[in-house]
This record gives sequence, C-alpha cells and structure tokens, in this order.
Amino acid sequence: MEKTFLMVKPDGVQRGLIGEIVKRFEQKGFQLVGSKLMVITREQAEYHYEEHKGKGFYEELVSFITSGPVFGMVWEGDQVITLSRTMMGKTNTLDALPGTIRGDFAVHTGLNIIHGSDSPESAEREINNFFKPEEIVSYSKDV
Ligand code: CMP
Repeated sequence: MEKTFLMVKPDGVQRGLIGEIVKRFEQKGFQLVGSKLMVITREQAEYHYEEHKGKGFYEELVSFITSGPVFGMVWEGDQVITLSRTMMGKTNTLDALPGTIRGDFAVHTGLNIIHGSDSPESAEREINNFFKPEEIVSYSKDV
C-alpha cells in the first residue's frame, strides 16, 4: 500500500487546523499510520528542502519551518501521494482552488499550511527523515 508524508506547517498548527486537516484525509478514506507534533531541527529542514537550496526563498523557508511545532503524519492508501496533493491544492495560493486545503485556508505561498510528498521516492525519503520505523503502525480498518 502506498504511503506519503504530510506535514501541517507552523502556520497551520498556530491556526488550529490540525483537526480539520486530519478530518479531510480520514473522510477521503485514507489511513493514518503515524503522527507526531514536533519542532524540527535545522538539519532535518535542510535535508527536507534540499532541492530548494540556493533559491531566493530558501533561508526564509528553513527558518519558517523550524520556527514552531509542525504536525507530521504518515498516511496510507491507494494513490495517496497524488490524491493528497490534489486535496492540498497548488503551492501558489493564487492557483489553489476553493475546496482544497490551501484554497480554503492560505493566502500567502510562503504560509501555505501543509506539505505533501510529490513522488514515492520523496515519500520514502521524507518519512525516514521524520519517523523511526517503529513509529509507523500497521492496522486493519475493518473493526
Ligand atoms: P512546499 O511545496 O511544501 O515546499 C516548498 C515550499 O517553498 C512551498 O511549499 C512554499 O511554502 C515555499 N515557496 C515556494 N515558492 C515560494 C516563494 N516564491 N516564496 C516563498 N515561499 C515559497
């Protein structure tokens, strides 16, 4: 079963959106298999945003993501990587449609509430950056 890493960013935590965001993915039918509230280290942030190193917004991005608690999650389900990104909406808030998380809650691209892995390779890398194997659980939903 496919897994992805989703993270409510510091702005989403500050605004009390953890429950709303978890609810949307639960209602879609995905399964939460790992989660934690954490303040991530600069090392974790630099590894996570490696592909953006050198861009104009990189320093701002790293300092923002380490500025307060984030809520990291591992979700499982069919096509969860692509479908969760559709539910998140576009990165640029001007393109994020109403009905998506960013479309409903974000007005600035730098403060866009949520992160989600964009490929199976990123998902594996990001899950390993933030979770130990024993922090991911496996359970049946048929109860
Ligand atoms: P995300 O897609 O989660 O990961 C990269 C982040 O960089 C992106 O969300 C935005 O929050 C941020 N970002 C992208 N473009 C800009 C920009 N032009 N200015 C500030 N932040 C940006």
